[in-house]
Amino acid sequence: MENKMASNMNGKLIIFDTTLRDGEQSPGAAMTQEMKIRIARQLEKLGVDIIEAGFAAASPGDFAAVSAVAKTVKESTVCSLARAMENDVRRAGEAIRSAKSGRIHTFIATSPIHMQHKLRMNEDQVVERAISAVKWALEYTDDVEFSAEDAVRSDMDFLVRVFDAAIQAGARTLNVPDTVGYSIPAAWGERMRQLIARVPNSDKVIWSTHCHNDLGLAVANSLSAVLNGARQVECTINGLGERAGNASLEEVVMAVKTRRDIFNLDTRIDTTQIVPTSKLVSSITGYPVQPNKAIVGANAFAHESGIHQDGVIKHRETYEIMRAEDVGWNANKLTLGKLSGRNALRQRFTALNIEFASEEAFNAAFQRFKELADRKNEIFDEDLQALVSDEAIAQISEYYRLVAMRAHSETGALPTARVVMSIDGAEHQADAQGGGPVDATFKAIEQVVKSGAELQLFSVNNITSGTDAQGEVTVRLSKGGRIVNGQGADTDIVVASAKAYLNALNKLHSRLERAHPQI
Ligand code: KIV
Ligand code: ZN
Repeated sequence: MENKMASNMNGKLIIFDTTLRDGEQSPGAAMTQEMKIRIARQLEKLGVDIIEAGFAAASPGDFAAVSAVAKTVKESTVCSLARAMENDVRRAGEAIRSAKSGRIHTFIATSPIHMQHKLRMNEDQVVERAISAVKWALEYTDDVEFSAEDAVRSDMDFLVRVFDAAIQAGARTLNVPDTVGYSIPAAWGERMRQLIARVPNSDKVIWSTHCHNDLGLAVANSLSAVLNGARQVECTINGLGERAGNASLEEVVMAVKTRRDIFNLDTRIDTTQIVPTSKLVSSITGYPVQPNKAIVGANAFAHESGIHQDGVIKHRETYEIMRAEDVGWNANKLTLGKLSGRNALRQRFTALNIEFASEEAFNAAFQRFKELADRKNEIFDEDLQALVSDEAIAQISEYYRLVAMRAHSETGALPTARVVMSIDGAEHQADAQGGGPVDATFKAIEQVVKSGAELQLFSVNNITSGTDAQGEVTVRLSKGGRIVNGQGADTDIVVASAKAYLNALNKLHSRLERAHPQI
């Protein structure tokens, strides 16, 4: 296994992406192995330095997913998270064994509140465990990262002691997390500055920051840490992550690039891949991007006010500090149409980094492409991504499957829907009325399935522009403490809604779920 990180990274900011681990801890964002591989390949193309692929010890499924990402990715380091427990660290080590460049990221909580109530360990025990964890990890790779969970609420003297011990044990990266999103930029920068000043041999390691967004300050705090010596930022695409999320990769990267005059640092990120990556993650996880989100929101580069429009037409820089094309907007060129053949489709999939496990799988995608092209004149890259997601979704489990449906709405009459679906191969039909055609469709499905699940979210987004665009629907269901996101895409948004609802039911049925690593 080759390791890419030199310890003196002057002038370089390392981008550590944890979309597949912390991002996956967002409610309902659990991913299958196939989904993780698709995102990992795109992250590799984006140029992230480290991909945290998961928490290998959480379940056999997580272990398999981390191992598969480790086997697939060649240009980025692949990392697994591990609590500072022997079994966790060894599972992480085994999962990254086949990576060209692999890292183990081990963590233990260091704040009084976590040590007393969660770990029931005293300071000496925590230090001893941190040392052991780093040493177990070193049996598998010399690229070991150590995190002091809840560093934000940890005693400064104790943090210095723990990080000193971790360096002496052999950790090469020390991560300082604001686990609960409590800090503010000045305080967070100062914490990083003091740690680097006080921990012996701090110049021999990379200091990293990992911020949560509970106060909406994750990016600001991360950047403040960078200004005070951090040379690795842990972040996620679209700011996905536990609770209010993590620092958003696209915002951190574009801040450092746009204000190079202040940061004087470079990343390896190919910024033109930012928007395609954001769209892929959104479509796979079912987390839509808010229109006014910086960099990747649909309105991020739209100028509404007449004064702004006039200024931009006369001289773009009057109101634009970044160019839309530099972050990958407008990359959705017309790709294919009804007359495109198998070769053209295959080439486009290859350009999008999408591989098929077999010729049969490609044939199924070609068939879906032809069906879509019958209903939609222009097929964009985003349509192809959605088509593959739909195919992957269908493979999660076909326990519940939509066979046919119709929905009727008319001014002054109650909307109705008829759904024909198969459950474990047997066909069922139901009719229902509802407040709208989607409501009627969901009621008809529930008449048959009787899941009793609570609908927590229903959202529709157009994948591309135009009235013939496919609608991508996310449905979030919760039942018995489990939360799942279901997705469906179709040019008919009622059909997309039915597919999304059934996809969520299939996830509940297949028990696709994620154990919570931070226990
Ligand atoms: O937020 C956190 O503290 C974490 C650690 C595991 C790094 O995600
Ligand atoms: Zn975190």
